[in-house]
Amino acid sequence: MTATGMRVGIHDLAFATTHQVLDLRTLAEHQGIDVNKYYIGIGQTEMSVPCADEDIVTMGAEAAAQIVARLRAEQQAEDGQAFDGIRTLLFATESGVDQSKSAGVFVHSLLGLGEHCRVVELKQACYSATAALQFALGIVARDESEKVLVIASDVARYALDSSGEPTQGAAAVAFLVTADPALIEIEPVSGLHTDDIDDFWRPNHLSTALVDGKYSLAAYLRALEGAWTEYRSRGGVDFEAIDRFCYHQPFTKMAVKAHDKLSALVGSPLDKDQRRAQVAASLELNRRTGNSYTASIYVGLLSLLERDDADLAGRRIGFFSYGSGSVSEFFTGVVRPGYRDVLRTAADERALDDRTAIDHARYRALHEGIDAAQGSDYETAAETPGPFRFAGVSAQVRRYARTAGGSPA
Ligand code: CAA
Repeated sequence: MTATGMRVGIHDLAFATTHQVLDLRTLAEHQGIDVNKYYIGIGQTEMSVPCADEDIVTMGAEAAAQIVARLRAEQQAEDGQAFDGIRTLLFATESGVDQSKSAGVFVHSLLGLGEHCRVVELKQACYSATAALQFALGIVARDESEKVLVIASDVARYALDSSGEPTQGAAAVAFLVTADPALIEIEPVSGLHTDDIDDFWRPNHLSTALVDGKYSLAAYLRALEGAWTEYRSRGGVDFEAIDRFCYHQPFTKMAVKAHDKLSALVGSPLDKDQRRAQVAASLELNRRTGNSYTASIYVGLLSLLERDDADLAGRRIGFFSYGSGSVSEFFTGVVRPGYRDVLRTAADERALDDRTAIDHARYRALHEGIDAAQGSDYETAAETPGPFRFAGVSAQVRRYARTAGGSPA
């Protein structure tokens, strides 16, 4: 609650991913290695791969369209007025499509939002969606009539044949931050940690990230300790008062390692199975999308809310958000009664199941095609079955369109 007693938090949360998928067995077979290194060792089974006409904008718009459609319908049902609801759109990404214009402006246009809206893009590796959440909470705390749309969307790309290759992926989430939220109230205390390090980064001239793999794992765990320690020193609840944990997931095994680390740090008596139960449901969607950078922790939240068998109403979730470079934050939220009525569990399952499986040659051609197209005007092949597509570049400007077949919500 805020100082004035108002609850603020996430009212709606929607998911989208690309419409193609590569099973990591296909990658392992091509590499001649045991697939269990991926299925078990890093905890990933598949990675979402963008079609030629999909990117962070098309995924972000597909996720956000579900929230906007519901909001529009609710407002019309309530008072018959036309939709006028969103005055701030924050687009969080580290795989931006333009160095100047916010990807959110393309989404604003695709969704037909009103002109009286501030739109901005945020970047700090995988952390920026959490910055967006905190900024959104501030806007709502100042004026409880405000509704802030946050979109987190990323395509995780590493060089072909690099050690990071199996941890690629793509997904987007959109969430609506409001007063009196229906899904989860975000509590005010948080712990922060920033450290100028070179664990993972992407220079301007590269479309793929560079990473010091083992160092990045150690840096993540060190940041967790730093953020947790500050969280506690600022009056955050103790470990035992948190029922479930949701971590940034570059690959799902990382969340398991992080939870083991935090449990050891606080001297928790929980055994391995009890610790796993606190994170297991949060891993299921990410295991199938692959890394979605800044979206991944909120894909994890959705997975937790949809897949945990227990009734989570009134339960507290601990969040650890990590963005290489590095900035991180530990904070908590409490699940609201009736949260299950807000979820789109079957549709989210379909979004994963309905992806078209691609072979290794197609995956490599798509990967290489992104760099080949840089700097020139071109039209993309019409491939996506989704509601929005990236049509190509003309006069050096990216062009987006609604598709004929896809339904936006
Ligand atoms: N069966 C079961 N398990 C197996 C196995 C098999 N046949 N073969 C190997 N394994 C296990 C290994 O024991 C290891 O497990 P532990 O870590 O628990 O010991 C796991 O599989 C991975 O094996 P390796 O460490 O040998 O794998 P690797 O050297 O090829 O690299 C990696 C792994 C460093 C994660 C690499 O994929 C990478 O660089 N990924 C990108 C960087 C990354 O994701 N960093 C995370 C922190 S940074 C961050 O969070 C920001 C972000 O989003 C990128």
